[in-house]
Amino acid sequence: MNLKTLFRKKSATEILLHGDASAEHHSMNKVLRVKDLTFFGIAAIIGGGTFSAIGNACYSGGPAVIFLYIICAVACGFTAMCYAEFASRVPVSGSAYTYAYVTFGELFAWIIGWALLMEYSIGNIYIAFSWSGYFTNLLEAMGANIPSWLTINYKEAHRAFLDNKLASEGYTAWMEAPQINGLHIIFDLPAVLINILITWLVYIGTKESRNISNAMVIIKLAIIVLIILVGIFYIDIDNWHPFMPNGFGGVMTAVSGVFFAYIGFDAVSTLAEECENPQRDLPRGMIYSLIICTVVFIILCLVLTGMASYTLLGVSDPLAEIFKIKGVKWMLFIVSTAAVIAMSSVLLVFQMGQPRIWMTMSRDGLLPKRFASIHPKYKTPGFATIVTGFVVGVPLFFTDEKFVLDFTSIGTLFAFVLVCGGILMLPRRADDEVQTKGKFKLPYVNAKWIMPMLVVISFCLLQYFNSGYINDMFQITADNAQRNIPMIVFFILCVLLAVFSFIKNLSLIPVLGLLSCCYLLTGMEAANWKWFSTWLAIGLVVYFSYGYKKSKLNLKQ
Ligand code: ALA
Repeated sequence: MNLKTLFRKKSATEILLHGDASAEHHSMNKVLRVKDLTFFGIAAIIGGGTFSAIGNACYSGGPAVIFLYIICAVACGFTAMCYAEFASRVPVSGSAYTYAYVTFGELFAWIIGWALLMEYSIGNIYIAFSWSGYFTNLLEAMGANIPSWLTINYKEAHRAFLDNKLASEGYTAWMEAPQINGLHIIFDLPAVLINILITWLVYIGTKESRNISNAMVIIKLAIIVLIILVGIFYIDIDNWHPFMPNGFGGVMTAVSGVFFAYIGFDAVSTLAEECENPQRDLPRGMIYSLIICTVVFIILCLVLTGMASYTLLGVSDPLAEIFKIKGVKWMLFIVSTAAVIAMSSVLLVFQMGQPRIWMTMSRDGLLPKRFASIHPKYKTPGFATIVTGFVVGVPLFFTDEKFVLDFTSIGTLFAFVLVCGGILMLPRRADDEVQTKGKFKLPYVNAKWIMPMLVVISFCLLQYFNSGYINDMFQITADNAQRNIPMIVFFILCVLLAVFSFIKNLSLIPVLGLLSCCYLLTGMEAANWKWFSTWLAIGLVVYFSYGYKKSKLNLKQ
């Protein structure tokens, strides 16, 4: 094996001149403008993270969890600008996968494609579970009850039984479930059914049209505004004390959930070929949707933690729970309806995105041809869609929400790190090359002096306000031991980036994007890293046993 072939690249110029092998959308209507892209971004962002994960985030971080929302917004903002720069240079479908093929070469492209599977398919497992929680609420509000052993996943019920949580839904489910040969029959039926329904919709080609997507966003946002307005009347500011009950460690515990809430803005970049002016509008769409969602998240957190003690929010349907606690029954129905609509749209967007990425990879030869086959009648990537349905559906029987949430966030963050790193690898463009054409160009701010200064000042401030911080970083503390990337590794990365910025005059925005995403990665627990490494190892085995040999780039050598 020739090492060079691992990093063989697709040429951006060639993709633009002759079309990407994956560009199945050349005849698509270019109808999307900034407003549509912003709405699409919000459609993909506000879902399970907003209606579900926000509860556990408030529970572990208290009201101070808003800081984590701000950190994630900054990390995603920098990353969005890097996505935008790529989208402006290579405005074709394939998103981060295609971008990596152009900058880092085939091996990294494969790894990103493999990691995106975690964002879209594994992410949908979490959303299906959350959807089920709110759907069950909705049914209850209408007087219909499903047995608890059909509304919870097996793992959670088993854990509740082992932990002897007598009052929990999981314990009840375990006790009431029918058994076959001693095996408790427990699974989340609504989650399984919504996955089948969405897979079927995507298979037969039902597409979210621009107008339907926009309508869904308007309904989502209108109901969230209503929740906020009604909630404000129930705020008791005493609930905001203590503001940071579990310290900054408690805030960082919620990193998976909070980051998950932001995932989706990147899906906008897959629409590059359907935009009127992708170079100008894509970046704006991503940034506007991020800003709107950040404001929504922060206000929601403050309202939730103001309405009741943060200790009551550690549930999977916190927005409904809070109104239950306050006895505002009429809001339950509205909240659950909004959640079901919001999550259905995210499920649809992600379930459509996954086969499209597989199709792109298959056309490049990295996956079997069947993944690119188009259904003769429905004109959709039928086989890839069905495989996606199985990849989402089968784990619904074996996993629980926490596991898939961590797994999704770590995989997506990893992809974001590569996107920011990819921008650093690209040669800079001359101003006149882009400005006259109205294209987006990532503003170049020389990090030469700024980065070293930022690193020194940040660590001095940390040491000053939190004496012993640097010392602690070198010690094996309980907190450090729990993180597989201890702070010392992050510190070394900061120093290395400062040095490279100085020597190579790196561009500040991707450097900050890279650093903030890496910082969020340090919040992931050791166990998640083990699963993630195993996942990557499986990906590499698949690549070397198939994609490496079958890659279309082999023909060009
Ligand atoms: N951000 C999307 C959600 O929260 C993935 O559902």
